Amino acid sequence: MPTRLPKLPNTVRGKDYLETRDWTDQEIERLLKTSSDLKKAFKAGRPTRYLPDKTVFLFFFDKSTRTRNSFEAGATQLGAHAHFISAETSQAAHGESPKDMGIILSSYGHAIAIRHDLVPGEGNSYMRAVAEHATVPVYNMQCDIDHPFQTLADLMTMREEFGRSLRGRRIAVTWAYAPSYAKPMSVPQGLITLMPRFGLDVVLAHPPEWTLMKEPMAFAQAQAKAHGTSFEVTDDMDEACRGADIVYAKSWGIEELFHKPEEALKLSTRYKNWLCDERRMKLAKKTAIYMHCLPADRNHEVTDAVLDGPQSRVFPEAENRLHTCKAVMALTM
Ligand code: CP
Repeated sequence: MPTRLPKLPNTVRGKDYLETRDWTDQEIERLLKTSSDLKKAFKAGRPTRYLPDKTVFLFFFDKSTRTRNSFEAGATQLGAHAHFISAETSQAAHGESPKDMGIILSSYGHAIAIRHDLVPGEGNSYMRAVAEHATVPVYNMQCDIDHPFQTLADLMTMREEFGRSLRGRRIAVTWAYAPSYAKPMSVPQGLITLMPRFGLDVVLAHPPEWTLMKEPMAFAQAQAKAHGTSFEVTDDMDEACRGADIVYAKSWGIEELFHKPEEALKLSTRYKNWLCDERRMKLAKKTAIYMHCLPADRNHEVTDAVLDGPQSRVFPEAENRLHTCKAVMALTM
């Protein structure tokens, strides 16, 4: 006799998940609770087939390891099917409009997830255009502005580490050098806009050229003010790490230079010393943890000793991508 699944609330059924700012604190709490319940069920080997016979389309304009695979595995575990679409091999490559994609994919399935993160000014607008015409929920698998599945998993990981209340905890969101490619700005922007809402004091560190977009910066400031937390900016990585509970050191690109990657890369070589190593982790609290959304440029952004060391939480963080992604699908599809 199969165990009856606990009923999920219908409060966010049909809702898009495009940026965390579109969801109230209570709705995000619901996502975190469901993520945690689904994680327990997964660990206990209990089936969670909340979405039998449903289809989610995964529409990728960029590469992925965690996002694609957490969606595909997560959909299977919920009894659904995740259908992968590469932008390059779809008619989007010939200019098919987001409106038509939204209408057509809505008629074939039950949710549309999109990754479009490489060109500042494009990805978020594209997904909002799909969402305007879709009749099913649309999910942001990472755009130019936010990476809401990542930051939800990050928040879950921080609570697992420090408990439900994060008030008074300090997170250093700091740029780090990476020679591989211009990584999107959406993770640091997602962190600075979400974490002040959930009690964390945020310090953002980057070399002068690596500023984030104006609007997320203003939103982060406003959220810190509204929630009685702080949001500071520095160009000193040591200063950011000093006294931190969480060091989230990762690379991102320069908004104006995403179309000139060689120029950005050349400039970034001036800042090779922006590396998260054991010395910098020692500036943080003794109980501090290291986080990174991954993929990391090992021994450029962060040393192996930190990434594989006792303070690193990058693998539980990556694992939580599965549980949070399932929660969003189970509650909205
Ligand atoms: N963190 C993250 O989004 O990983 P992928 O780019 O591999 O999906």
